[in-house]
Amino acid sequence: MLQLNCKETERSAKAFVRYPGGKRRLLVFLRRCLPAVEDIDGKYIEPFVGSGAVFFYLRPKRAVLSDINPELIDLYRAIRYAPRQVWAVYKEFGNTKTDYYLVRDKYTPKALVEKAARTLYLNRTCFKGMWRHNREGRFNVGYGGQQRRWVINQEDLVYYSSALRGVELECADFQLLIDRAQEGDFIFADPPYRPGCRECLHSHYVWHQFKYHDYQRLAECLQSAKSRGVRWLMTISSHEDIICLLKGNYALRIPRGTGKMPGILTADSGEVIVSSYLIEGSARL
Ligand SMILES: C[S@@+](CC[C@H](N)C(=O)[O-])C[C@H]1O[C@@H](n2cnc3c(N)ncnc32)[C@H](O)[C@@H]1O
Repeated sequence: MLQLNCKETERSAKAFVRYPGGKRRLLVFLRRCLPAVEDIDGKYIEPFVGSGAVFFYLRPKRAVLSDINPELIDLYRAIRYAPRQVWAVYKEFGNTKTDYYLVRDKYTPKALVEKAARTLYLNRTCFKGMWRHNREGRFNVGYGGQQRRWVINQEDLVYYSSALRGVELECADFQLLIDRAQEGDFIFADPPYRPGCRECLHSHYVWHQFKYHDYQRLAECLQSAKSRGVRWLMTISSHEDIICLLKGNYALRIPRGTGKMPGILTADSGEVIVSSYLIEGSARL
């Protein structure tokens, strides 16, 4: 199992993006279910990357990260190639509620670095790190405060930039990536919860509503990837309509991660891990 030093553990616990439903608090549980990085023969593929908690924990050398949210992927691209420039713009934004609404509603940058700094600022100062857009595609989450703004610093962005070096970044629907996966690749998939669950009801981080049909597509392309020799692990709502799409694989219930520190686990989360390979304690579906 991969060992991290204190600074790296701290950074993987922080992540540069806030994400409701992000997996960093579950890492203590998840890591025993993931393959060691040196056991991934091909590429590590994460088609619903969000804050990339699992990627930044594993730090695989050959990886493809993707998400359907273009603002998020632009942020990753800018952090990868110009972390100091992103920080230079980010730190100049104002500290008040009025400043927040000015940046949100009036500031429309064109260059990648400025766009990324705006996204990072909105993410770190909006209410609970939500990602929600109106029908015109404008970010419309209310102000949340400055408390989480300075939790990250320039050195963190430089660290994340180095972790992203050589990584392929794409803005795409998950199917494109999964259908391309080849023997020896490993996929970690963390799709949005099924419609009707709390995240969807509140549109917390749903860029496009993820519908039952999307779960069917996801299950089909994962099953097909498995038949090509691709290993995968996904975290998903334990609703039986979804679980029954994944017959022949292995399921393990996961406890909820709560509290400020990663890995403080409490009662049942209503989420399960489903994997194409046997994990200790899992049951065959
Ligand atoms: C549960 S979040 C992922 C959280 C991530 N694992 C983390 O630790 O932060 C789900 C992600 O799926 C993305 N998404 C939604 N529909 C998608 C689709 N059809 N294809 C690819 N990504 C999608 C959302 O934008 C969101 O970032």
